[in-house]
Amino acid sequence: AKTNRVRLIEVGPRDGLQNEKTVIPLKTKIELIERLAQTGLRDIEAGSFVSPKWVPQMAASSEILTHIQNHPPQSDNPVSYAFLAPNTKGLENALSTLDASPQNPDSNHKIELAVFAAATESFTQKNLNCSIAESLQKFESVIKGGKAAGLRVRAYISVVLGCPFEGYDVDPKKVAEIACDLMEMGADEIALGDTTGMGTAPRTRDLLKSMQAAGILNEDIAMHFHDTYGQALVNTAISLEHGIRNFDSSVGGLGGCPYSPGATGNVSTEDMVYFMESLGMDTGVDLDAVVAVGDWITREIGKANSSSVGKAMLGR
Ligand code: HMG
Ligand code: MG
Repeated sequence: AKTNRVRLIEVGPRDGLQNEKTVIPLKTKIELIERLAQTGLRDIEAGSFVSPKWVPQMAASSEILTHIQNHPPQSDNPVSYAFLAPNTKGLENALSTLDASPQNPDSNHKIELAVFAAATESFTQKNLNCSIAESLQKFESVIKGGKAAGLRVRAYISVVLGCPFEGYDVDPKKVAEIACDLMEMGADEIALGDTTGMGTAPRTRDLLKSMQAAGILNEDIAMHFHDTYGQALVNTAISLEHGIRNFDSSVGGLGGCPYSPGATGNVSTEDMVYFMESLGMDTGVDLDAVVAVGDWITREIGKANSSSVGKAMLGR
């Protein structure tokens, strides 16, 4: 059934920051996560257990997870904090951090993991250094290991609407096939990443139809739009019309993928909240509060605020 409740997954602390060249202090990252948790957001992607050689900005993820575990809640409602883990090394690092830092008894947060597949062979090679089939094998152990530890696991599929190396040559049936494999392995949710922002309304509709034809439920799908071509809200509208109610976004429109040349930020959380409110949808997020966080973090790291709504409301 279609409801007016929409779940926004904030990916700013991970997708938003991973590409920044200058090291952002741990204190700033933690403050960002804590400020976001006070805006009404219930899902926050907080870090990434990946190779620090490839993505140095995410090197402090273990400290971030430890901090979350040790501290009382930042809001009355439970917040779920997600961390990327691409292989058994990432899984082990996440689980050993959890073992070493039991959850504060006053806290009601949850931790979840995320694996990240891609829809094309060339992007998979660049991002994961292996083939799609090999990547799925690695994810199987991460998903099973995460589930065995009682964690929710989401599974990204990148470049679903266009690839920096293969252009528009991305087959929606292939995306649906990978999604089915990941769901069979035990993933709780599929996040469809328009990494390059090349997605258009008709292509978004075709992709969602393929997912439906493959038997993937709308409630198990999240859309992850990047606004590089300014199409993110259009594609969001198409997804809403199709019945999707889970969307990723990033405060201040921060972000980009290190393996997708020229990719700009994710659709901003401020624009998403404003858009959903204009449609009478309920995100549970305080727009003024999230605009203030976008203003603060973009100044803090010396980046332009790329949220249209944020800039308009701030008079910038
Ligand atoms: P590998 O197969 O081990 O090969 O890792 P490698 O040559 O890349 O390994 C390099 C070094 O990293 C080795 O250490 C590994 O042991 C180590 P060395 O022997 O040189 O000392 N290593 C690790 N260290 C810590 N944690 C780990 C880990 N794994 C290996 N988990 C792998 C291949 C892909 C895992 C690695 O290259 C890597 O972590 N790459 C970074 C990938 C990444 O973070 N991409 C960005 C996130 S995806 C994204 O942004 C898209 C998304 O937003 C959705 C969308 O928009 O589409 C999610
Ligand atoms: Mg992304």
